[in-house]
Amino acid sequence: MKIMVVGGGGREHAIIKSLRKNPRAEIIYALPGNGGIASDADCVDIEATDIEGIVAFAKANSIDYAVVAPDDPLAMGCVDALEEIGIRAFGPGRDAAVIEASKIFSKNLMKKYGIPTAQYEVFEEMQPALDYLEGSRIPVVIKADGLALGKGVVIAETRDDAKAAVISMMGEKKFGDSGSRIVIEEFLSGPEVSVLSFTDGRSLVPMVSSMDHKRALDGDKGLNTGGMGTIAPNPYYTEEVAELCMKEIFLPTMEAMNKEGRKFKGCLYFGLMITDKGPKVIEYNCRFGDPETQVVLPLLESDLLDIMEAVTDERLAEVPVKFADSSACCVVVASGGYPGSYAKGCEIIIDDMDEDTEVFVAGAALQDEVLKTNGGRVLGVTSVAPTLAEAIEAAYRNVKKVNFEKAYYRTDIGAKALEAERK
Ligand code: AMP
Ligand code: GLY
Repeated sequence: MKIMVVGGGGREHAIIKSLRKNPRAEIIYALPGNGGIASDADCVDIEATDIEGIVAFAKANSIDYAVVAPDDPLAMGCVDALEEIGIRAFGPGRDAAVIEASKIFSKNLMKKYGIPTAQYEVFEEMQPALDYLEGSRIPVVIKADGLALGKGVVIAETRDDAKAAVISMMGEKKFGDSGSRIVIEEFLSGPEVSVLSFTDGRSLVPMVSSMDHKRALDGDKGLNTGGMGTIAPNPYYTEEVAELCMKEIFLPTMEAMNKEGRKFKGCLYFGLMITDKGPKVIEYNCRFGDPETQVVLPLLESDLLDIMEAVTDERLAEVPVKFADSSACCVVVASGGYPGSYAKGCEIIIDDMDEDTEVFVAGAALQDEVLKTNGGRVLGVTSVAPTLAEAIEAAYRNVKKVNFEKAYYRTDIGAKALEAERK
């Protein structure tokens, strides 16, 4: 089988490594992939947002199956475009990807179908939003409607910060059109849990839960990033919470999308907060999370390709989806300065990793056969072990084997989870 994976980060590397375990996966192309992915797939220099280029490549190379991983091509209709020329693909169509691409859509969906989430108001004009803030509770959360590279959410601790956020999104168009409409919502507190799920619109199977660490610095300080590390499973996601989520959030969301005529097929990501009033949805993503995927897929015991094809063919209920009873920890190694400005082109040296440890490369390029840094988050080191404590220890032992100038990683990935586990 000839498979094509659209995207080029750590998530895509983890997907490709999992797909390769199936002997049917004879050739895997990555569009565009990256210098590290090149060890596991044939990288093709076509950007993930070049839908025409992707479709033309798929056709010319008789691709049997495609996996579209990032949000942008999904929101742009990449899966629809591939299906139009008869190529089977994993991921939601444009109509369903809107669950991530528009926060207003997802908030209104949750309200209409009684799915628990933070209370909110939608604003299309700046002045009414500013007026509303005069009377709102503080802290308050301001969200740009559209995709904003994970940066369109501001948690304002003061009224002035809240107004400044509204002015920057709606007045100064900091996120372009993505911020021309905004959501202002109630601030919630509680531990966060990420749950990725497979769904074909008929059934939904949650994967092992995980915890992201979004802030750049130890102790959850510093700026928000794409994610500096993850652990799985998430100790806050107890069996009781899982049951509640399935009944009140996961299945109702799948059914709501069906009722709206937007059947979702692919990986539906639930960003949850476990509040004292129960689990609530913070956000939906229409794709695998990154770096969540870098701990979730290493724990998958069943075959990823078989599951993905079953999702596409709407027979998910017929295939096993089983996760190991172990734990995983992923530590992201970034270029010093990220998420601000950082250097590129530094040589990356990776010594042999221990067994049960994998490296997923995100921001790196090959230059004359030498792997060099080419992005903020450079790679993730994931270790799997019987317990969370052992997985964390192994990931930190192995992350020391990665060297490049100004390499930076958080030293407390999983610390909060360990604490929760001990309680
Ligand atoms: P999002 O891009 O929607 O995932 O938001 C980024 C982060 O902002 C989330 O992971 C939460 O930590 C935080 N966040 C978003 N919405 C809220 C909320 N209503 N209350 C508290 N924190 C929030
Ligand atoms: N790690 C969060 C995300 O993928 O959106």
